[in-house]
Amino acid sequence: MPSTRSQNQPTIQFPRRKSSRMGPGPKGSSENVVEAHVTPLSPRKMNVGAVPSPSMSPRTCMMKTSQSERLPLSPRKRTGDENGCNLPASLLGSPPKQRCTPLCSPRKLSFSENTPVISSLSHHSPSSRKIPLSPITRPSPKKLSETPCTTPLVKSGGKVPVARLFPVKQSGYQSVKQALHTAVPERLLSREAERAAIVSFLEKHVVEGKPSSLYISGAPGTGKTACLNCVLQEQKALLKGIETVVINCMNLRSSHAIFPLLGEKLGVPKGNGEVRLRKFLTSSGPTVLLVLDEMDQLDSKSQEVLYTIFEWPYLPKSRMCLIGIANALDLTDRILPRLQAKPHCRPQLLNFPPYSREELSAIVQDRLAQSSGETVLDAAAVQFCARKVSAMSGDARKALDICRRAVEVVEAGDRSKIASESGSSPKGSRVSVPQVARVLSEVYGDRMASSSSEGESFPLQQKLLVCCLLLIIRNSKSKEVQLGKLCEVYSKLCKQRQVGGVGQTEGLSLCSLLESRGIFTLKKAKEARLTKISLKIEERDVENALKDRALLGSILAAGLP
Ligand SMILES: Nc1ncnc2c1ncn2[C@@H]1O[C@H](COP(=O)(O)OP(=O)(O)O)[C@@H](O)[C@H]1O
Ligand SMILES: [Mg+2]
Repeated sequence: MPSTRSQNQPTIQFPRRKSSRMGPGPKGSSENVVEAHVTPLSPRKMNVGAVPSPSMSPRTCMMKTSQSERLPLSPRKRTGDENGCNLPASLLGSPPKQRCTPLCSPRKLSFSENTPVISSLSHHSPSSRKIPLSPITRPSPKKLSETPCTTPLVKSGGKVPVARLFPVKQSGYQSVKQALHTAVPERLLSREAERAAIVSFLEKHVVEGKPSSLYISGAPGTGKTACLNCVLQEQKALLKGIETVVINCMNLRSSHAIFPLLGEKLGVPKGNGEVRLRKFLTSSGPTVLLVLDEMDQLDSKSQEVLYTIFEWPYLPKSRMCLIGIANALDLTDRILPRLQAKPHCRPQLLNFPPYSREELSAIVQDRLAQSSGETVLDAAAVQFCARKVSAMSGDARKALDICRRAVEVVEAGDRSKIASESGSSPKGSRVSVPQVARVLSEVYGDRMASSSSEGESFPLQQKLLVCCLLLIIRNSKSKEVQLGKLCEVYSKLCKQRQVGGVGQTEGLSLCSLLESRGIFTLKKAKEARLTKISLKIEERDVENALKDRALLGSILAAGLP
């Protein structure tokens, strides 16, 4: 894969790991670099983080890596449901998001609208048709919540909420599940170099009033949002007097909606947003620090919005510093052709590599230690999860979600045991490798979870989704189906066949897996439910792909549920 980064672009370089999904690192990055460093920005700018803090410790993940072993770069755009970023609910124009938890309470893992459809074997409606599941019945996988909602970031010295530890004494399972949250963490592990680079940017540019821009990239779940949150929180004193505005672009209806929203936040009079904003940002006043999370959402056809925003810090007399965050490594490259004419407008780059096995394991273990959860989730299970997730994506959110889900599975098993052996007291089972493997297989497919890659079979939920898509396509003129519609049919089918279904968020992630298997094509939309899904393979090849003629035949014969 060609490098997505311009060779001319100033870069804060971090060494890559073997499991990195990102594209090749910047040229010249040594394999065993310990400290973050930045290539010169422009003739007139000094480097961010050029002199890393002496306390910056080498990250364990910084190992030798061979480029050929890297997985392809495809940080996918995240949809609203998955979005783990932070925007006050009061913002106009926000698509419906999952509810944020109160700031001071331990984070409740709410599945809200994504609550899976779990059809109980004993409580189905008498009228519902009961078609035995063919050929296997799986337990209901619940949704793996994808950071349903983290907490709002700072607005001018506002408080950055963090997930609290666990003051209330709760059941073992309960506190462990809470500890494995995916909100902004109370304690950020690793990321010392990245954190130092951000602090350096704040010190050299924001505090000094020397406008500049920093673009933070990295695959989902690599701690970009969490890290920036933590830095802003820690550096509150440093940022006193700085007008800090944080916007999660995922919540904007369109890329142009950024201008009125920003105007509103900065108190700029309404009307002619872009022009007034430019005037405001170049008139006298305190330094403005604009943080745009999920910035790739501003990507419009001509990239004019992104271009305008990247240009702001470099307008004559500007008082604005910009920190943009997004998954894609190449976001700034895409607008570089227009920035080339003004090399001083190029942002500094800071890439967050995927987490290593050791880092993921440390993150999960740290959470368990906070809740005395080591007795619930055993170390081997954590290691297993960390190994699999680091090989797949290095996504801390996924690792936490999988462990939390494994706890839920065991908890549910305990509950049903208690119910069947009425009267006996709960013993509390341990979550071990098999439970984690089971969740991994629900999320990634069986090949992912099994130690050997042979004998891969298709997870049931994915099979059902494929069948549903096929049924809908056969019954409509269009070849594309929206996720909302697909999930509706799928949940009816699950009920009919007495299988536990998954919610829309996990449905989307399963569809993404099917996309990576080459069976579905997804066209992402801002709202997850509007994602358009179509079959990538011929209808007649579906049976082959599914390797389950019996199930497919029986579902297709029964027609739409
Ligand atoms: N270094 C870390 N230490 C502790 N928890 C982390 C760390 N990195 C990520 N997490 C957890 O994973 C969640 C997802 O990370 P996030 O910063 O939202 O990823 P990104 O913005 O890169 O997609 C965080 O909210 C946090 O709970
Ligand atoms: Mg984020």
